Amino acid sequence: MENDQHIIYGFSKKSRDEKLELVTRYLADPKSAIALFKSFQHANSKMQRLLEEFSENTITNFPLPYGICPNVLVDGKIYMVPMVIEESSVVAAAAGSAKYWFSRGGFKTEIIDTEKIGQVHFLWKDDKNLLFARFPALKERLIKECFHITENMIKRGGGIIDIKLKDLSEREPGLMQLYCTFETAQSMGANFINSCLEQFAATFKQWHLLQKEFSEDGLEIIMCILSNLTPNCRIKCYVESDMDRLNDIVPGWSGKEFARRFCLGIRVAELDPFRAATHNKGIFNGVDAVVLATGNDFRAVEACGHAYASLPGRYTPLTKTELSDNHFRFILEIPFALGIVGGLTRLHPLVKLSLELLESPSATELMSIAAAVGLANNFSAVKSLVTTGIQKGHMKMHLLNILKQLKVPENRKEEVIDYFKDKVVSVSAVRQLAEKWHLTGVTEN
Ligand code: MEV
Repeated sequence: MENDQHIIYGFSKKSRDEKLELVTRYLADPKSAIALFKSFQHANSKMQRLLEEFSENTITNFPLPYGICPNVLVDGKIYMVPMVIEESSVVAAAAGSAKYWFSRGGFKTEIIDTEKIGQVHFLWKDDKNLLFARFPALKERLIKECFHITENMIKRGGGIIDIKLKDLSEREPGLMQLYCTFETAQSMGANFINSCLEQFAATFKQWHLLQKEFSEDGLEIIMCILSNLTPNCRIKCYVESDMDRLNDIVPGWSGKEFARRFCLGIRVAELDPFRAATHNKGIFNGVDAVVLATGNDFRAVEACGHAYASLPGRYTPLTKTELSDNHFRFILEIPFALGIVGGLTRLHPLVKLSLELLESPSATELMSIAAAVGLANNFSAVKSLVTTGIQKGHMKMHLLNILKQLKVPENRKEEVIDYFKDKVVSVSAVRQLAEKWHLTGVTEN
């Protein structure tokens, strides 16, 4: 109650300037804060309005780097893949890996399926056997009465695949669900699925009332929502090579020794969920960056991947290796639901451009591209981890960032990089050196 006086009423109704004033009121320097927030607003007011409309209570924009991973050869087609990510080294790692595999046949993919899932969760107090007995008739009605929603999707090759009745009453008395599967063609399908589910619930309630053997309060709908775990919307992506073509992947290493160490790295992730989480995070470094650049929902993609990784009963890595007859194969199997229509895809100008850069891929081609970049990042990370260690590459990027921060002139950077070749990089160590060599904030001549 006491805190009620601090509640802000009507924040969403205020103008952007009023919001800015309110938000910065208690900051040390509200004027500068407002100026900084404003400096990130788009110069074109129409564009700014468009960006603001994607979300609520917007006061500015938050830019992230938009990079390109060139040379991504997927199923025989070469892509320049847009990646939106704030973490240094990720695009570089993906690019290194993509280039390496380019001359070894590139990434190959197989779409396993594209089935999406939605559920109507409900409590059932009436005769369960009777519900199961009458379910075929109910199902027919559910599908028929949803036609006004599915009609267009059917024209585009999608629609309802099936509706099943599931009994979960062993987990919770009375708990049941309509377990529904969908094909959503070129869209991720969240809105379509949720609309269908809500229509199913309405039809189900009406139908239930009309069945005279059932009681008035025998059905309680709990909720209708898609599931982000879509194990059957899944892709397999792999790279492969004869072992001798892996010779010198790290100077002085034979392909065989590299493959042995690489497989050990994967094995650790298979055996230990603590490693598996980091291992999969490295895959999502690449996947998420593509998902973001193409206006898809990276939270949904992550939720799906991590839940899928846990399906065996413990958390597992999403990649595996196969070694046979002097042959190395590295495979990613990952489920995710992506779309090239709907959501931000037609609205955000950079998303439109990303899709154009990728030569207007279909939803399944986009799955292949995102999986390839995820595999590229994972290959790069595990390769570094089991050979030189991860910090070598990371530290170089870290050093470059520090040099930028300290405004070290371009023509002096190489000396500093050379100096730190065999030393530990830290902000203070670089600052000290830069001060000693009089490099900070010097303007280039
Ligand atoms: C860092 O963003 C990702 C890695 O930790 C992935 C991995 O350990 O496999 C390098």
